[in-house]
Amino acid sequence: MTFDIRSVKSKIFLSYGGILILVVIFFNATFYYFAQSYFYKNTIHALKSISLDVFADDIQGKNLTKGVALAIHKYEFSIRNVYIQALYKDKIVLKSKNLKDYELPRYRPKRDSDIVHVKANNISKYELIMYSTMIANNKNYTVQIATTIQEEKQHLARIINMFIVGDPIFIVIMLLVIYKMLQDILKPMNTMTKTAREISITDLDRRIKYVDNGDEFAQLAKTFNKMLFRLQSSFNQVKRFSQDASHQLKTPLAAIRVQTDVALKTNRDISDYKSVLRSINSEIIYLHNMVDNLLLLTQMDDEIVQKSFKKVELDTVLINAVEEFVLIADKKKINLNIEDIERTIIKAESTLVSVLCSNLIDNAIKYTPKDKMVSIELKENKITIEDEGIGIEKKDIDAIFDRFYRVNSGRFEGAGGYGLGLSMVKIIANLHNAAINIQSKIGVGTKIEVIFPTI
Ligand SMILES: Nc1ncnc2c1ncn2[C@@H]1O[C@H](COP(=O)(O)OP(=O)(O)OP(=O)(O)O)[C@@H](O)[C@H]1O
Ligand SMILES: [Mg+2]
Repeated sequence: MTFDIRSVKSKIFLSYGGILILVVIFFNATFYYFAQSYFYKNTIHALKSISLDVFADDIQGKNLTKGVALAIHKYEFSIRNVYIQALYKDKIVLKSKNLKDYELPRYRPKRDSDIVHVKANNISKYELIMYSTMIANNKNYTVQIATTIQEEKQHLARIINMFIVGDPIFIVIMLLVIYKMLQDILKPMNTMTKTAREISITDLDRRIKYVDNGDEFAQLAKTFNKMLFRLQSSFNQVKRFSQDASHQLKTPLAAIRVQTDVALKTNRDISDYKSVLRSINSEIIYLHNMVDNLLLLTQMDDEIVQKSFKKVELDTVLINAVEEFVLIADKKKINLNIEDIERTIIKAESTLVSVLCSNLIDNAIKYTPKDKMVSIELKENKITIEDEGIGIEKKDIDAIFDRFYRVNSGRFEGAGGYGLGLSMVKIIANLHNAAINIQSKIGVGTKIEVIFPTI
């Protein structure tokens, strides 16, 4: 059981403990006060009822002697020690036998009757409570009735003892219960702290376990997990970019280095230098495009991009993309067949949709032999790009959307690439909630459809 004074648990525990002690003290004091006044009132009530007995037969004080004598007879040896004494003016005229040779302190009430506490050591070592009352019709007579409040004091002492023994036990038990409750309530917090402490950059996929009961801790855990998710995806993006970049940049950079090394070794003709520079330049363009593509792939944060969606004329975007490839297709003697292009408005990020179209057209032209045809169509929110190319085997169809996946890299002459195009197509389609269908047959061709949602 660790107890850190700065912890929330300790603070709640101490405050609760303090309040508990105050409540117990208050309860004890109230109880003691009421018990004491109950006993006191009871005693006074008893004394008064004895006095009523004394005066029961007393009409105009005539039978006082008889009344006192009867009362003395009735009460002097009762369980409670009752001492009775009658005064005429200040003289004792009657007294109960249990007073023996002693007497009650003579006391004439200031009003008709009075209650006083008196000490009469020779009668009782305990304090006496004495009720003195004047006879209504003859105020020279006073009747004094006294009793010890020993029993009541004992009861009260017992109550105090009970408090002295019971309170600490009760408080300790309550504090233990509170401590256990606090431990249970704050357990999720400790688990969270522990997990958060354990999570390092290498295991950002860990999540905080929690019971989803809607309480503050569950909310906190959820928020924390969401934050971890965001951290993880940002970290993965950075990681992915650095891995991909270092992997993909290695070869072209090595090629550039070899070429410059060779070119610098001996003096050469200007034409040689030009040819090396041209080669380096094309490598640089290549590298430039690839870095752009890699960045685009890693920077795609769905929520941010989706917020920037605007109404886009899909037909215009598609036609612009096709135009980029007209020369290339011509050069390759591929027949670009533009079929129906319907006016289509979608909600999208136009640059990304353009990247999607370019990549699909690029593939269709790249993987189609010369003199064959590539058809492009846009109808009912659906872009269809069909080629008469080499086709893709069924087993590869799912994998071609993975990053860096290329079917037998060198299977088609002149079709260089990184295996990044379709992974971008997939990410962009998902971002736009667009569906991709692909049908392909080896040696016959490939048909890819991208269906955008209507707005
Ligand atoms: N129209 C197609 N016909 C035949 N094979 C295709 C076609 N489109 C894609 N593929 C196959 O799928 C693989 C993955 O395509 P993807 O566009 O992702 O990469 P890439 O074209 O090889 O390189 P990059 O697009 O990065 O320059 C390709 O290597 C190719 O084998
Ligand atoms: Mg491609």
